[in-house]
Amino acid sequence: MKLTQADFELRRDRLAQQMGPNSIAIIETSPVAYRNRDADYKFRADSSFFYLTGFAEPEAVAVIETTDTVDDYTYSLFCRERNREMEIWNGYRAGIDGAIEDFEADEAYAIDLLDEEILEKLLNKERLYYRIGHRAEFDAKISQWIKQADAQQRRGNGSPSQVLQLDRIVDEMRLIKSDQEIELMQIASNISAAAHTRAMQQVRPDMMEYALEAELNYVFGQHGCVPSYNSIVGGGENACILHYVENNKPLNSGDLVLIDAACEYEFYASDITRTFPVNGKFSPEQKALYEIVLAAQYAAIDAVRIGNAYREPHEVAVRILTQGLIDLGLLKGDLNELIETEAFRQFYMHGTGHWLGMDVHDVGSYKADGEWRAYEDGMVVTVEPGLYIAPDDESVDPKWRGIGIRIEDDVVATQQGPLVLTKDVVKEIADIEQLMAQAKS
Ligand code: GLY
Ligand code: MN
Ligand code: MN
Repeated sequence: MKLTQADFELRRDRLAQQMGPNSIAIIETSPVAYRNRDADYKFRADSSFFYLTGFAEPEAVAVIETTDTVDDYTYSLFCRERNREMEIWNGYRAGIDGAIEDFEADEAYAIDLLDEEILEKLLNKERLYYRIGHRAEFDAKISQWIKQADAQQRRGNGSPSQVLQLDRIVDEMRLIKSDQEIELMQIASNISAAAHTRAMQQVRPDMMEYALEAELNYVFGQHGCVPSYNSIVGGGENACILHYVENNKPLNSGDLVLIDAACEYEFYASDITRTFPVNGKFSPEQKALYEIVLAAQYAAIDAVRIGNAYREPHEVAVRILTQGLIDLGLLKGDLNELIETEAFRQFYMHGTGHWLGMDVHDVGSYKADGEWRAYEDGMVVTVEPGLYIAPDDESVDPKWRGIGIRIEDDVVATQQGPLVLTKDVVKEIADIEQLMAQAKS
């Protein structure tokens, strides 16, 4: 399943509608990121740029200009020209003709002509939309173009009188996913779930964390996918480091391993965490903590309902986690007071989720008019409660120290209730132990 040019065009139509007449929007893709001498990171187009164009090549800028009416707009694509020599070295380019024929641009130009051509387009527009503050170099370019446009005032020309944040429109569009977008996220989730299942099956005591990471990458790669963020594979107390990505320690029998890893498919991300025992069997302490996190997660998922406040799953999770910590003697005191004073943060120091989409921490505002906004049909959020008992936490019995657990799924708010995209990988203790036992036999 792939989006078509008609899908991208529809998005541009919707953007133009919201820009108002006599306006211009300018959006660039990501720059190529330098890795080290003569080696770049593999290019990945900017999400909002791709969202509007479907164009995945580097060095590209899209321009949308409305006329007296928003129904009549011009879409221009600035991109690399075709060049036989460069294409032999670095690969295929759509070029100017491809931009028009395959990507349905009304006008296409060599990216080298951007400075020259953009001025013509900018002159005498009322509003300029661009992504203010994304990249200092682009902010500087915009300032330069505005200055050049204003230099023509005596000829009766001028720059737009308003400069507006393009993200305000595009982020809101991206926040509500279409059925096709959900379908792509379902595919990403299925592949990521298969990768986690394989990790549970392949893990053995004394294996290195990076070797387990390689099992995930194998599944991603078999589907032509790459991770949507740096994979976390943390054995034992490494699970208590929230953004642990070194993944370079051995996995010990008796420890849990926390894997937070997932892939993106056709520019749409998934985001999954599972925590399971390296030797296939939870200890009583691991089990006790895990059951609390799992109960919190089920309840939080159930709170992803149209009309509920964005923060509701977090509040539900915090209540269950805090009660669980009291029951195990890890926290002492009154439930409401421990929540009020955020005493739980000793063991649960992050939020319960975030928007998910083309970016793993996806765009979209979380509040409107100072209040947490309500879930709407087609919003996708992660639900990822956890408990982390620091290895050096002397306030707790030593048997609890160094246990880190998180369980994360991806959930769509729908008219039929919460839809869990990542349900294909098990998370019940009995199911995990059974899967791991079968893999060993
Ligand atoms: N994997 C990043 C996160 O869970 O937020
Ligand atoms: Mn997440
Ligand atoms: Mn995650």
